[in-house]
Amino acid sequence: MNILLLGSGGREHAIAWKLAQSAEIKKLFIAPGNAGTGHTGINVPIDVNDFSNIKFFVLENDIDMVIVGPEEPLVNGIADYFMEDELLREIAVIGPSKSGARLEGSKDFAKAFMQRHGIPTAAYRTFSTSESADAKEFLRSLKPPYVLKADGLAAGKGVVICVDINDADRELTDMLDNARFGKASEKVVIEEFLSGIELSVFILTDGKSWLLLPEAKDYKRIGEGDTGPNTGGMGSVSPVPFADAEFMEKVRIRIIEPTVQGLLSENIDYKGFIFFGLINVNENPYVIEYNVRMGDPETESVIPRIRTDLVYLLKKVADQSLHSAHIDFDERCAATVMLVSGGYPGSYPKGYVIGGLDKGYKSMLFHAGTQIDEKDESVKTAGGRVIAVTSLANTAIEALQQSYEVADMIEFQGKAFRKDLGYDLI
Ligand code: AMP
Ligand code: GLY
Repeated sequence: MNILLLGSGGREHAIAWKLAQSAEIKKLFIAPGNAGTGHTGINVPIDVNDFSNIKFFVLENDIDMVIVGPEEPLVNGIADYFMEDELLREIAVIGPSKSGARLEGSKDFAKAFMQRHGIPTAAYRTFSTSESADAKEFLRSLKPPYVLKADGLAAGKGVVICVDINDADRELTDMLDNARFGKASEKVVIEEFLSGIELSVFILTDGKSWLLLPEAKDYKRIGEGDTGPNTGGMGSVSPVPFADAEFMEKVRIRIIEPTVQGLLSENIDYKGFIFFGLINVNENPYVIEYNVRMGDPETESVIPRIRTDLVYLLKKVADQSLHSAHIDFDERCAATVMLVSGGYPGSYPKGYVIGGLDKGYKSMLFHAGTQIDEKDESVKTAGGRVIAVTSLANTAIEALQQSYEVADMIEFQGKAFRKDLGYDLI
């Protein structure tokens, strides 16, 4: 079959790499892709939110399935766009309807959904622009630190945690009254702070049944020892040691089942991935957030641990026969080290040549912000997160060591990466 994958990050390169191994693939296109996906399939210069161009391309190229990598087109309703178009209706879209994508697109919706279905999450209240005085009063009923979340998508920057009440007041004014995140902060969720270790749990669902994928841990902060500002993610490991059978059974019963049943009972069409951002509070899982896509850089550790053909699984999602699907994991540990541009997550230069990419490593290199320079065919940096190095080994520490060896051999000006990943696993 012919597949179009939307996105351009390390997540999409890892998904493309896996899809390309399937005997069922005739042609694989990635829009817009990066230098890495260009080797795995065919890149097409279409923006992920340009639905009319996507339609044109899909019809021109006999695409059978569209897989949506990032959240934005889902929140903008790409699945509905296909459903409502006579020519596109039969084409499978992997990704939820606009209504399902609210799990990520509106924190207020997600919190209310969890409350309706008894899913454990931090206590909260939502306030809109006219209610900033009430919001400040509510803050005073909570213990610090204070967690403020812009309701809508804010490129991963919409969550602010303040220790000081005056800082919290200021942030609140900024979000609610000064539209710091535009429309996304017209509503703000204020919630109780939860203390524990985070992990990312993923399922594939056809809206009725679901399959558990390998879980992962992501390292979000730029600095060693989890310090400094948040990034898109500086690395990941899978499996997560504390996610043992007992803990995962709690996740299944308290979180995954009621989420899938909740979607079904509310008639929300959902065919795709659900990413549960969880926190382990004294051996009890709580949902910090839902995402309606795979995580990045979690995918770079999760996908290599799936043995089963991904096209087979996604076809089962599309025709709602996931109940009869099987999935096998590679029992080994995966570790991903993200190489980033100097300056990231602040501003950073682009366009530096990347060397050391073709040395026949045992590790996998998943490209994120990279681009081919048409003039000389060189691969250049084109984003904050540049290359994810993933290794598989019998232990997480060995996998990390192997990824670090490769990380040292890849070269570009300003290259930075965290050297302490997995420190918390020992
Ligand atoms: P998000 O952008 O929703 O992934 O949130 C960013 C980060 O904020 C999360 O990964 C957590 O580390 C932290 N966070 C969000 N909500 C809470 C909470 N209720 N308690 C503690 N930390 C939180
Ligand atoms: N790594 C976190 C995310 O993809 O949102």
